[in-house]
Formats: sequence, C-alpha cells, structure tokens
Amino acid sequence: MLTEGLVVVHERLGEEAQRLMKLVLKGPIAKTAQAGQFVAVRVQDPTLASYDPLLRRPISLAEISPESDEITLLYRVVGKGTEILARARCGDRLSIMGPLGRGFSLPEDGELWLIAGGIGIFPLYPLAQRALAKGLSVRLFWGGDNQTFLESAGLSEWQALGIPIHLSTMDGSLGQKGLVTVQVLGLLWEFNGKVENSGQTMDGKLYVATCGPHKMMQAVTELCMNSGVPVEVSLEERMGCAVGACLGCVCTLKDEAGTLIHKKVCQDGPVFRGEEVVWDVSC
Ligand SMILES: Cc1cc2nc3c(=O)[nH]c(=O)nc-3n(C[C@H](O)[C@H](O)[C@H](O)COP(=O)(O)OP(=O)(O)OC[C@H]3O[C@@H](n4cnc5c(N)ncnc54)[C@H](O)[C@@H]3O)c2cc1C
Ligand code: FES
Repeated sequence: MLTEGLVVVHERLGEEAQRLMKLVLKGPIAKTAQAGQFVAVRVQDPTLASYDPLLRRPISLAEISPESDEITLLYRVVGKGTEILARARCGDRLSIMGPLGRGFSLPEDGELWLIAGGIGIFPLYPLAQRALAKGLSVRLFWGGDNQTFLESAGLSEWQALGIPIHLSTMDGSLGQKGLVTVQVLGLLWEFNGKVENSGQTMDGKLYVATCGPHKMMQAVTELCMNSGVPVEVSLEERMGCAVGACLGCVCTLKDEAGTLIHKKVCQDGPVFRGEEVVWDVSC
C-alpha cells in the first residue's frame, strides 16, 4: 500500500489563476485502483530535511491507466501541502499510499448520471470511462463558478467522451446560470415521467454518483431519494492519517434501522450511499 510514484507529467491545468495542476505518476498502484478511491501523497520538501507538513494529503484518482501503469491526479493548490507538491518535477519519486478507501460502484445496466460541483468532477472521470466501457448510458451535470473554470478543469476531455453534458455556471458565462441541481431536478422529472408513462417503475433504470460541495450533494441526495433513485456520494472531508488510525475523519451515518453510527471516511468511504449520510451533522 505504501509505494512510490515516478512523476512523468506535472503541469498547470488551464488558466493560471485557477491554480489547478495535473500530475501523472507511474507505479504499480494503477493495476488495482478503482474509480472513487484516492491516494495519500507525502508533501514534505526533500530539500528542507523537515517533517512539516507531517500529514500526507489525500487526492482522488482522476484517471487510472493499468496498461501504462499510470495514475493521474488533478488538484488545486490551496495551501502549504499542495504548494510543496506543485514543486515536484518530472523524474522525482513521490511517496504515495494507496489505493485507499472504497470507491464508486458500477451499476449492472440502466443509465448513470454523474453530478459534479467544482473540482468534485475529478474522481468522476474514471467512473465515466468504466461505465462507458461496460456499455452503460452516462450523462454529466457539472456546475462551476464560470466558463474559465470549467474549461481549465477538463471540459474538453469530457466532451470527447461523447456523452450528454449539462453545464451550469454561477455567472452564466457557460451553460445555465445558477446551481447545477436546478438542471438535475428538471431532467429527473422528465425521466420519471417517461418511466411512469410506460407503466414501469424506476427500479434499475437510473443511478447517480455525485461529488462536490456538501450542500450540493445533500440536495442531490434529497432529489434522488424522492424519486427512488440510488445515489452514491463522495465525502471529501479533511483527513489525518488516511488509513483508519487517528479517527480524524469520522462521520455520522445511519444504518438501515435509522440508528446513528460512525464510520471513517478514509476507510469506509469516501464513497457512501447518499441515504445513509446524516447531512446536518458534519463529520
Ligand atoms: C478523499 C479526498 C479526495 C480528495 N481529492 C482531491 C482532488 O482530487 N483534488 C483536489 O484538489 N483536492 C482533493 N481533496 C482535497 C485535498 O486533500 C486538500 O485540498 C489538500 O489536502 C489541502 O492541503 P494543503 O496543505 O494544500 O492545504 P491546507 O493548508 O491544509 O488547507 C488550505 C485550505 O484548504 C482547506 N481544505 C483543506 N482540505 C480540505 C478538504 N478536504 N475539503 C475542504 N477544504 C479543505 C482548508 O480548510 C484551508 O482553508 C481531496 C480530499 C479528500 C479527503
Ligand atoms: S484520517 Fe485517520 S482515521 Fe481517517
């Protein structure tokens, strides 16, 4: 589980102000990784002989290529750890732990809707690839601040998949202005109506996977539960050890009887069934 990744690509993604980076690592991890899993990357500066920052940083797998032994991490530079990571150069060897956590499940048939907010799009790409390879219909809903963000964060790669894409931006510069959940609601009603008119039930017809801000995933879960659509959510909460030892990522869920239980996002997640998450109690 503890391994090294050789840096083969490390470059800025899109417009500079977005502070997004693409990091491709070569290593054995690509053989076993699943969509929705993550790695914990050591981000200490080797030139400083220091243990600061002590904790590894969790980053989702944004692409998994077992045939070339490569994984891609897409990340935003937000603080000390990611600033140090952004200095890694091609040829460096990074210490990584992983693949970690429980990823998304893949439905047997039917349609899969991916619903992303901001950089929550990153872990959904390998899921889309696997679903398409399995012959499922895939549809993407993606909301971001503006056109520049969406284009910087990989819109053209998504368009190349040839799937229906519904974009939303807060400033209306691309797609529909406003929250992505408004578009989801509209299409969900339409989908539901078609199924009802055909005299069938929603069972096995539609599945949803979502990643993004907490409030967005809560809203998506409510919409899905009201329509009887199974939904999986990726809780990208702050982490400590990332391997189940520190309890720093414990979050509140409920079991099938409605009893409150605690689980570790790093080991039991980050992907959970939306209906089991207690949204108003934070992790
Ligand atoms: C399972 C998982 C997968 C993730 N995948 C990705 C990914 O694919 N791409 C990506 O860019 N980021 C991802 N993140 C978030 C990433 O781990 C953090 O941005 C990173 O650890 C920040 O480290 P830092 O030292 O640069 O920032 P810090 O100095 O630790 O923090 C800087 C700022 O970022 C905020 N912050 C830090 N971590 C998080 C977090 N998890 N959620 C919300 N706010 C946070 C802090 O509150 C602070 O305001 C993921 C997190 C988890 C738990
Ligand atoms: S981060 Fe330490 S238990 Fe999950």
